[in-house]
Amino acid sequence: MGSPSANHVALVAFLVCLLPHCGSAKRTGYDVVSVAGSGNRLSARLKLVGGTAQYGPDVKKLSLSASLETDSRLHVRITDADHSRWEVPQVVIPRTALQDVLLDPTATPDNAAALPSSRTLSSASSDLVLTIHTSPFRFTVSRRSTGDVLFDTSANLVFKDRYLEVTSALPASRSSLYGLGEQTKQTFRLRHNDTFTLWNEDLGRSDQLDLNLYGSHPFYMDVRTPAGAAHAVLLLNSNGMDIHYAGDSITYKAIGGLLDFYFFAGPSPLAVVDQYTQLIGRPAPMPYWSFGYHQCRYGYKNVADLEGVVAGYAKAKIPLEAMWTDIDYMDGYQDFTLDPVNYPAKLLRPFVDRLHSNGQRYVVILDPEIKRNATPNEDIFLKWNGTTLVGKVWPGEVYFPDFLNPRGADYWGQKISEFRRTIPVDGLWCDMNEPANFLPMEPLNELDHPPYSINSNGSHHHINTWTVPVSSEHYNGVTEYDAHNLFGFLEAKATHAGLLKDTARRPFVLSRSTFVGSGRYAAHWTGDNDARWDELRNSINTILSFGIFGIPMIGSDICGFTGNSTQELCSRWIQLGAFYPFMRGHSEKKTIRREFFLWESTTRSARKSFATRYRLLPYMYTLMYEAHTTGAPILRPLFFSYPHDANTYGVNRQFLLGAGVLVSPVMEPGATTVDAYFPAGRWYSLYDYSLAVATPKGKRVTLPALADVANVHVAGGSILPMQQAALTTSSARQSEFRLLVALTENGTASGELFLDDGESPEMSGARSMWTLVRFSCAKYRKGITMRSNVVHNSYAPSRKQVIDKVVFMGLQSPAPPKVYVNGVQVKAAGIRDQKNGALTVSGLSLVIGENFQIQIVMSH
Ligand SMILES: *[C@@H]1O[C@H](CO)[C@@H](O)[C@H](O)[C@H]1NC(C)=O
Ligand SMILES: *[C@@H]1O[C@H](CO)[C@@H](O)[C@H](O)[C@H]1NC(C)=O
Ligand SMILES: *[C@@H]1O[C@H](CO)[C@@H](O)[C@H](O)[C@H]1NC(C)=O
Ligand SMILES: *[C@@H]1O[C@H](CO)[C@@H](O)[C@H](O)[C@H]1NC(C)=O
Ligand SMILES: *[C@@H]1O[C@H](CO)[C@@H](O)[C@H](O)[C@H]1NC(C)=O
Repeated sequence: MGSPSANHVALVAFLVCLLPHCGSAKRTGYDVVSVAGSGNRLSARLKLVGGTAQYGPDVKKLSLSASLETDSRLHVRITDADHSRWEVPQVVIPRTALQDVLLDPTATPDNAAALPSSRTLSSASSDLVLTIHTSPFRFTVSRRSTGDVLFDTSANLVFKDRYLEVTSALPASRSSLYGLGEQTKQTFRLRHNDTFTLWNEDLGRSDQLDLNLYGSHPFYMDVRTPAGAAHAVLLLNSNGMDIHYAGDSITYKAIGGLLDFYFFAGPSPLAVVDQYTQLIGRPAPMPYWSFGYHQCRYGYKNVADLEGVVAGYAKAKIPLEAMWTDIDYMDGYQDFTLDPVNYPAKLLRPFVDRLHSNGQRYVVILDPEIKRNATPNEDIFLKWNGTTLVGKVWPGEVYFPDFLNPRGADYWGQKISEFRRTIPVDGLWCDMNEPANFLPMEPLNELDHPPYSINSNGSHHHINTWTVPVSSEHYNGVTEYDAHNLFGFLEAKATHAGLLKDTARRPFVLSRSTFVGSGRYAAHWTGDNDARWDELRNSINTILSFGIFGIPMIGSDICGFTGNSTQELCSRWIQLGAFYPFMRGHSEKKTIRREFFLWESTTRSARKSFATRYRLLPYMYTLMYEAHTTGAPILRPLFFSYPHDANTYGVNRQFLLGAGVLVSPVMEPGATTVDAYFPAGRWYSLYDYSLAVATPKGKRVTLPALADVANVHVAGGSILPMQQAALTTSSARQSEFRLLVALTENGTASGELFLDDGESPEMSGARSMWTLVRFSCAKYRKGITMRSNVVHNSYAPSRKQVIDKVVFMGLQSPAPPKVYVNGVQVKAAGIRDQKNGALTVSGLSLVIGENFQIQIVMSH
């Protein structure tokens, strides 16, 4: 295309001005002035048509690059054409850079009218289609297979140095959105007219609804009726932002960075998280032991206090996997030190050694702040006003390590390693890493006064509230203004690297502050919650959201952190918490003690609910493997398995563990019943194996509120690998396996078992030993046949573990059926027909890692 003549431009401008509304109000936004495409890529230059008065001057020229990076991922990036800008660094999300296909932008016309009215980027293998409209500039993303428009920006794009705004239309009646955190929400599905502020903040308590909390995840999943197709949108931007969701639109207002969008095609919810974690990184494998019960309290007085708690759990025969210690163990609240009076090494070390010899673990807290003058090496800390930044946290005056500085991360790893020589902790808990700072700081420069204030209708907090000033400086001149939301991510990454280097074992890191991709290094908990029923309920919303964020190892402090829990609340919370992927009790020092053995009802709940949990550990750990390889959350909303059923979209008082287990906990005081929703299919009681619900369509059912356990049902079609309950995961792991087969009406079922040593750094990598077995069941003539198919087997042969029992649920037979294992008939003594449709075949010794076949022949 050649350059049009000046007259041509004037003529076009004149013609355009004959149109209605021309000249009345000046149009804001941009026009496309050049565009080029090649293969799966497209680039364009945009020129400002009209700016807006607020928030500073508009950027005059923008460049847009887009790429269909995979068959299911579209990347659209809009930035200043002439100046480079801050963007999420490669160390946070390693990714391929978008290439500009406009080889010589100056050779193209500087004139929208000379271009076609729109330009499309599509490919035969991708379900996503990008269309950019020339004048005014806007873009749409649509689904090729259905024509559904997924993202549809309006023309009034705003791009200033410190203010970016873009709005997309949404079909309010068809769209259900999930994600956009971290905030404590009363619902899991996002409500219309909510504003989500993303700015990592230690609000002190997570029970404050709808406010910006510890982490930032500018990611949502959108599930649409009628077909239940899901897609997702990530704005990869670490700057502070407000996102307003009006129902029929979503508006992003970011105070820096780029408009760097990724669209994920789905169309199933599981495909969305697979595609998302392929970009941001797969969830870290968590050690097997971390699925056991963790006990913590802020305010444990001394080592004897810890010993008493461990003994209390042992005496009550309640599982206890790991003891934790909050800042109480430190000397003057300084990291990597021990209180010489209450937690001296000569007492703490033998205590930790005893835990280890009992198959138990020890985890301590770390705050990122280092006491001022505790180190001579000042240049690895955040700077402010030309010198090392001094803030105030628990130890008093502190420095903040700069984890963007490779030497800052190395320093951290070295301190961890030195500390582990004294106390060989099994995991680390990164708290206060937003980072928190109790010292109000004076504004230093214009960064401290952004033209647009995020959170203006939330907590009304200025961005410097309770944290280091945004005018602080990181390595290489990066400002805290840009990198603030990455602090917790980077600390968790450095902590993970430090533990891995020192132990050569799979690290366990729990981080309060998170960003996109934190799941690669850390687990998360919902922060400082309160001992209230609404908090128990709201925990599910946050946990399900973090599953979607690629951080599947998450839990909420069982029985609440602040406030005094009642016995009833605590019992119900234990029953729910038994299904949290990360299961910890933790409480604040001023509250009454609530270790579960202290009350009779919590003792009963913990014994019975944890017995179920520990029996399900092989299934849960297989879900960890699934999460690590495909991003699938461990706890899932119902719509993940039933996207066609719109009744599941708003469900947040029940959840699925994987695809096979439906949990319907009690969440109200004094409840005698639980209202539960059962999607279409068969549902069996996990406790007595009976067929509880069989329905061709979703159905609401009133369940009894059981005293000591949540209602748990197994979905017809699943096969759950289980073991025996025990007081630690290591003893549970030595017990014999059982398979629970839940048949569909057609006699089918399937499931998986993943096994490894639970602590090698890699899970299922080429260098590690692991076994994966697939189980399947199908109708065969007058009965059914179940098979095990060993997919990979470098671990199980060394263990020689066996399955001793298989329970088939949903078999109706007038007389006891005949059972054959690998063609040999099982003696009658090994078969128990429970008459409720469940058939137990016991006395087996089927070696895990060897293929086998069980045939059941029904009598007539
Ligand atoms: C959201 O706000 C709009 C405009 O004020 C209003 O029309 C609509 O009813 C609100 N929706 C909800 C769900 O509150
Ligand atoms: C920054 O440092 C300069 C020079 O030491 C000092 O005069 C000024 O008061 C400092 N500013 C703030 C906000 O502390
Ligand atoms: C704050 O949000 C509420 C609820 O959306 C709204 O009614 C109110 O007008 C907002 N206030 C300001 C100052 O924006
Ligand atoms: C919790 O109970 C303790 C001991 O009875 C009492 O001192 C404290 O004030 C209570 N805290 C709350 C928040 O009710
Ligand atoms: C059972 O088989 C019928 C007929 O093939 C099919 O329509 C139905 O979806 C199947 N049910 C399940 C739960 O698989």
